[in-house]
Amino acid sequence: MTPLAARLKEIIEESGPISVARYMEICLNDPEHGYYRRRQPIGAAGDFVTAPEVSQMFGELIGLWCAVSWRQMGAPERVNLVELGPGRGTLLLDAMRALHTQPEFLAAISLHLVETGERLRHAQRHSLAGFTPTWHASLAALPPGPLIIVANEFFDALPVHQYELTATGWRERLVTFDGESCHLELAEPPCALNRPGQLGDVFEQAPARNDYMADIARRLESHGGVALIIDYGHTESANGDTLQAVRAHRAQSIFAEPGLADLTSHVDFEALGRAAVRLSLHGPVRQGEFLRRLGIEARAATLRRSATPEQSDQIASALHRLLDSRQMGDLFKALALTRHGAPPPAGFEGAVAPAQAAQGHATW
Ligand SMILES: C[S@@+](CC[C@H](N)C(=O)[O-])C[C@H]1O[C@@H](n2cnc3c(N)ncnc32)[C@H](O)[C@@H]1O
Repeated sequence: MTPLAARLKEIIEESGPISVARYMEICLNDPEHGYYRRRQPIGAAGDFVTAPEVSQMFGELIGLWCAVSWRQMGAPERVNLVELGPGRGTLLLDAMRALHTQPEFLAAISLHLVETGERLRHAQRHSLAGFTPTWHASLAALPPGPLIIVANEFFDALPVHQYELTATGWRERLVTFDGESCHLELAEPPCALNRPGQLGDVFEQAPARNDYMADIARRLESHGGVALIIDYGHTESANGDTLQAVRAHRAQSIFAEPGLADLTSHVDFEALGRAAVRLSLHGPVRQGEFLRRLGIEARAATLRRSATPEQSDQIASALHRLLDSRQMGDLFKALALTRHGAPPPAGFEGAVAPAQAAQGHATW
């Protein structure tokens, strides 16, 4: 039994079964044994690899996207560049390097990192030592002023509740402890969820994600700016059990090693969009399409011209991984938020957000 499994046993024995969202929250963020508090999970030696770790091109393009967005905002003298959940700091490191061609933007930036994981903060301190960032535990602590927010694979780590359709209606899935490990049971009575489905279907709801999105929206509305959210997930709300555990690049049961495996679930972009009230949504656009529009193929060609044959193969394979529809190209999506009336950010020209189109107030 992992130390966190022992802690979960105690919690459940003391106060009864817990929601899947609470299970996820404890597994990821328990102050003593939580996954993100203790582990450095990203990279070949860790549990999973994210887009900035696949290739420097990802962070470089996002950096230039930020510079274009800043100009679209009217090039304010000071701007808070904020990354949510910056992992090892790789995206920002590549972004800041690419921004040497944009000295006015570089001079305007105050860098802010929203990160709860101690070990990852340590890694960020190391990789971003040259840029004097400020760390925060949440958005609430950010200073006022216009801002550019970037969140890559951040929302998938925020907890989800799960509901299962039974003959008596939708019932919440709860986590209980039996014998040596946790397992699922269904809450009584059924809940008020009213959506179509077949017996056994699972539906996921993530109030923590929606609340975070609403906070971002409030901040953009009052201070101006833009947010870019990239994550894996679906454009429209749909039934499906997408919660998964990964350790050492292999999927495992979500109950196998609590605290030692990453837990994530697909992001419901329609729900996120609905939470961003009073803002314009741009996208979601599939990651492959988004990166192509930002010019990743030209960047790869430039890098390959001065690369060794081995490096050139690595660049080609990274490009394929980021763009291909069977790899990260389609499953991952990019969504941007701006105030109403702002021009569509780079890569989102002509993109229609289903949530707003359906409500009849698309602004582009
Ligand atoms: C999957 S990693 C993504 C890392 C990075 N963005 C990348 O693409 O490599 C999730 C990141 O979000 C952070 N995180 C998770 N929950 C958080 C929370 N509630 N508040 C702030 N950061 C959080 C993790 O510590 C980690 O840095």
